[in-house]
Amino acid sequence: MHDVPYFDRFAGVYDLAMPSADRADIEAGFAHAERPVELVLDVGGGSGRVARALDQHAVVADASRGMLAEARDHGLPTLQTDAGRLAVRDSSVDAVTIVDALHHFPDWDAAVAEASRVLRPGGVLVVRDFHPATVRGRLLVAVEHLVSFESSFDTPDELAAGVAAAGLDARVLERGFTYTVVGVEPGDG
Ligand SMILES: C[S@@+](CC[C@H](N)C(=O)[O-])C[C@H]1O[C@@H](n2cnc3c(N)ncnc32)[C@H](O)[C@@H]1O
Repeated sequence: MHDVPYFDRFAGVYDLAMPSADRADIEAGFAHAERPVELVLDVGGGSGRVARALDQHAVVADASRGMLAEARDHGLPTLQTDAGRLAVRDSSVDAVTIVDALHHFPDWDAAVAEASRVLRPGGVLVVRDFHPATVRGRLLVAVEHLVSFESSFDTPDELAAGVAAAGLDARVLERGFTYTVVGVEPGDG
């Protein structure tokens, strides 16, 4: 279960420690979709911090029962599932978001492959994570390991290469401490 037990333990205070999510950051990724974005699957969505900020209908998918209970308290639909084996039908959502979560997944290749599987043609994967080679990134890596997270961080280019290897049209939108990588699921024709 990797880092999930920590999130179960701290689910009740998670939102107190985190700033609100900025919808514009995610919308910038949705703008690359080649279909209307109406249904979003927020993988590693936790307490629903990101899903709450979106205008679209968003389902919060997470492995932590405690984090999902928080999301439900905010009136969000939830799904308890592992990012590497999503309990979701093929080609069933317009966008997948993974925000501040990929580095906690034990196998991000599997998570990206699963995102691609559940995306409809023209749908978009939007990943926001932290750049481990920036000054703040180095600090974050050290702190996460100090508190015993088993997190593992990748640079934007490493992630974009993985997203492309999964068959999506990948690009890096932002390269700072927080970065955004998107991948568009190829269309039917
Ligand atoms: C730092 S929180 C981010 C939550 C939310 N995306 C946000 O930005 O507030 C990371 C989340 O990833 C979830 N997580 C970790 N490993 C997971 C896995 N293998 N499958 C699904 N969720 C996982 C944790 O339970 C936790 O809720």
